[in-house]
Amino acid sequence: MNMFLLGIILSIAALFALNFEVCFSTCARAEYQIEGECCPMCAPGNHVYWHCTEDTSTTCVPCPESTYTDEPNGLLKCLSCSVCDTAKGIRVRKGCTSTADVICEPQEGFYCIYRNKHICTLAVKHSKCSPGQYIKQTGTAFTDTLCANCTNGTYSNGTLSACQPHTKCDIKGLTEIEAGTTSTDAECGKSYTVGLTVGVAVGVPLMAVLVLFICWKSKRKKLYFDQRVQNAPQYEQNMT
Ligand SMILES: *[C@@H]1O[C@H](CO)[C@@H](O)[C@H](O)[C@H]1NC(C)=O
Ligand SMILES: *[C@@H]1O[C@H](CO)[C@@H](O)[C@H](O)[C@H]1NC(C)=O
Ligand SMILES: *[C@@H]1O[C@H](CO)[C@@H](O)[C@H](O)[C@H]1NC(C)=O
Repeated sequence: MNMFLLGIILSIAALFALNFEVCFSTCARAEYQIEGECCPMCAPGNHVYWHCTEDTSTTCVPCPESTYTDEPNGLLKCLSCSVCDTAKGIRVRKGCTSTADVICEPQEGFYCIYRNKHICTLAVKHSKCSPGQYIKQTGTAFTDTLCANCTNGTYSNGTLSACQPHTKCDIKGLTEIEAGTTSTDAECGKSYTVGLTVGVAVGVPLMAVLVLFICWKSKRKKLYFDQRVQNAPQYEQNMT
């Protein structure tokens, strides 16, 4: 009984479906409808030049330059090829043919942010990581660069794929002049060099002054002595 009812319902449903089919698609799959007539479609790469008549089939002609049809069609004009606009961050990956639109792709260093039917129509530059960050994931044609902060004790100028640990000055036997940040390394200095530099800077002038002083002193002594020797007989003469 139940099966019988189900059978009837299914039959009615099938009849309805068939009816709809008949009502709404009057032409065959590879035909298009024009003024109540069904005409054969033109193949991809072509468009309709003359619709079919009772005696003739559809007259098709190839798409002119820079136009295409990628499906069987009843179009009087082919579709215009898209343009890969460099101002929109995209470039040609595959040129337009009579049967396929151009395929654009993001330019080098760009990623797609808007697509139309799998074709990239707008791309923007990958983000740059800031100093203090590292490149966690390099950008692709479809994804932006992923940046992440350097953690304690490491640094990166934003162009590296990993943060570098700060130089440990004491391990190198040096002293830390400037502590490292997340964007800069620690700055080490040779402590003895600093001492030496200061020593030389102070010592050399001091030595020079000392040497000059000693020279001047001894020269003066010598002059005084020479004078005394020269004048000695005169004294004696005067005395006598
Ligand atoms: C990364 O560091 C910046 C500045 O130091 C801070 O504003 C931001 O919240 C940090 N981001 C994360 C995910 O910790
Ligand atoms: C970062 O370093 C500072 C000083 O070296 C320390 O006090 C702090 O606990 C560290 N933080 C983390 C999360 O390691
Ligand atoms: C960032 O650091 C790397 C490695 O230390 C270096 O080769 C590069 O020139 C630096 N870039 C900038 C912009 O400072």
